[in-house]
Amino acid sequence: MLILVTGGAGFIGSHVADALLAGGHSVVVVDDLSTGRRENVPEAATFAPIDIRNASALRELFDAHAFDAVCHQAAQTSVSVSTREPIRDAEINVMGALNLLELCREKSVGRFVFASTGGAIYGEVPEGTMADEATVPSPISPYACSKLAFEGYLKAYRHEHGLDSTILRYANVYGPRQDPHGEAGVVAIFSQRLSAGEPIQINAMREPGDDGCIRDYVYVGDVVKANVRALQGELTAKVLNVGTGTTITTRALATTIESALGVSSEIRDGARRAGDLERSVLRPNDELLPEVDLAKGIAETVAWFRDRG
Ligand SMILES: NC(=O)c1ccc[n+]([C@@H]2O[C@H](COP(=O)([O-])OP(=O)(O)OC[C@H]3O[C@@H](n4cnc5c(N)ncnc54)[C@H](O)[C@@H]3O)[C@@H](O)[C@H]2O)c1
Repeated sequence: MLILVTGGAGFIGSHVADALLAGGHSVVVVDDLSTGRRENVPEAATFAPIDIRNASALRELFDAHAFDAVCHQAAQTSVSVSTREPIRDAEINVMGALNLLELCREKSVGRFVFASTGGAIYGEVPEGTMADEATVPSPISPYACSKLAFEGYLKAYRHEHGLDSTILRYANVYGPRQDPHGEAGVVAIFSQRLSAGEPIQINAMREPGDDGCIRDYVYVGDVVKANVRALQGELTAKVLNVGTGTTITTRALATTIESALGVSSEIRDGARRAGDLERSVLRPNDELLPEVDLAKGIAETVAWFRDRG
């Protein structure tokens, strides 16, 4: 298949592009390099440096390539940026994504896979429970709102135009290549800072000094498998959580990464960040049970950060 991977210069998208190429598919990457890096794009992929808000540039691309499927990873990905710049967030995550959908409809592209967020759209997940796909979404950040809005468009395009789509709701994804300089991606931030002997900060769940927020961390390899299977039409469900069903606090995560690296560093206590949920955990979809547990995934991730220097 010829597959368009948007956001293919980013963390998850570049791993998906690698896996698709390894599986014998052809890949075109669209990315505006706003957070992604050119060197993440696999050599065997065709790279188109396009902002998805630019409908005419996308049209030229779709005129030049008869895509069989689109894997849509490009996004404004930061919850805190979305609280400061909700309009820009929606312009990219809703309007930019709609540019792609319109072209898929017009060119009769067979399949669309969307990177949504289980980590944000369900809102607070009460202690003792896990969010599954039947849980009613309750977004509290503009980022979660824009992701949920686009899920709605996908359902409308399926109904109106027969566009086949799969919505993958990721938990907190971590692994090699994640940007350690952004505002999100705590595993990458801790791995990079701890490898460099720098202090780390635990942002509070409620008050500075607590153990921080509770999260479900899923390894990028499991997320990649979910995308590849969805693109190959191997999944039955149309909306699937991609998580592990297990939780860890930010402080326990810090300790896990310290042990994996064999270091210990100064830990500072930060305030709660706007838009952060206290607790988020996903019940993994039966079709997508995770294969990599946190210990193995952290070992792979810290090895990558350590080798990078
Ligand atoms: N990392 C996570 O924990 C997580 C969790 C849930 C959902 N997601 C979703 O997964 C997808 C991939 O996230 P990631 O962690 O790899 O982030 P990332 O920032 O590494 O990748 C996003 C890519 O999109 C590109 N991009 C941003 N705006 C663009 C635009 N207007 N036009 C073209 N390209 C643009 C960036 O340059 C970047 O390469 C995103 O849709 C994100 O919302 C990620």
